[in-house]
Amino acid sequence: MSKHLPFGDRRDAPWYGQSIVSVSQFAPADLEYVFGVAHEMREMVGRVGSFDLLKGKLLANLFYEPSTRTASSFTAAMMRLGGAVIPINEVRYSSVSKGESLPDTIRTLEAYADCIVLRHPQMGAAAEAAQVARKPIINAGDGVGEHPTQALLDLFTIASELGRYTPKAGLSLDGLTVTLLGDLKYGRTVHSLARLLSQFGVRLNLVSPDILKMPTHIKDELDRADVRYVESTNLEDVLPASDVLYVTRVQKERFEDEAVYASVKDAYVVTRETLKAAKAAMVVMHPFPRVGEIAYEVDQDPRAAYFRQMENGMYVRMALLAMVLGKA
Ligand code: NCD
Repeated sequence: MSKHLPFGDRRDAPWYGQSIVSVSQFAPADLEYVFGVAHEMREMVGRVGSFDLLKGKLLANLFYEPSTRTASSFTAAMMRLGGAVIPINEVRYSSVSKGESLPDTIRTLEAYADCIVLRHPQMGAAAEAAQVARKPIINAGDGVGEHPTQALLDLFTIASELGRYTPKAGLSLDGLTVTLLGDLKYGRTVHSLARLLSQFGVRLNLVSPDILKMPTHIKDELDRADVRYVESTNLEDVLPASDVLYVTRVQKERFEDEAVYASVKDAYVVTRETLKAAKAAMVVMHPFPRVGEIAYEVDQDPRAAYFRQMENGMYVRMALLAMVLGKA
């Protein structure tokens, strides 16, 4: 961490200067803190649109994999807080395509920016970057590893939609049944979300094709945390008792064999018909992009929360940026 603190930074702020690499950094009290700040961000955006909390701060958005929501919501978050962004989303046009190493690229960008958001195809890349960086690194997806900021916005959405979080009453998720559906093997969002949920008294249904089951190391964590979960290939069995249905895309880019991908890509399609068997207050979520797992007709259903989920992403990322930059 820099010895010379920029004017006005709160050195005592708990997340000041810290990297966000994994959801394991967040205990329930931290989640309540993040959600409290995100809640304030939502109020402020509603009232004034943008404000100057991060005026003068610069974020580098370094994306080695495609992104729509994560990249643009971090940009929107930074700009609504009065900061600015260096976007590097086409690494093939940067020196990375000349063979520059990740540490060198990170050391370069931190010479210009105050914080780096990194998406990389390799698991562990964010941790590696955080090792060499003196400024905060925020993991925006490291291969099939984690996607912590997505899991935070997912949890914020679950809690908001089901009335399980208010700044006054705090966060309580006990007793909920959450069904994770689709590609649980390669989907990093469900890896992070399952880990985060394991801190609460929730029940998990892990529904996937046989070849796309949740990895053993995550299930081991669930076991150690005493989380009750069932694995299944069948959505119908578990849907009626679910409070949350979290749908994911089959991660085409992680398959070596196109034919194997083709055999599972349409394994589950959630339609209006599917939802007839679900609770009236169930929440349907998806990190997006969707490529056929949720029919467009579902968008009309009040239970479809995925567009609200995206919006929450901006508030949660505003909160995280303010925290690591010492302003919250
Ligand atoms: C996800 C990702 O990149 O892991 N997208 C996102 O950030 N919202 C999910 C996906 O690509 O399927």
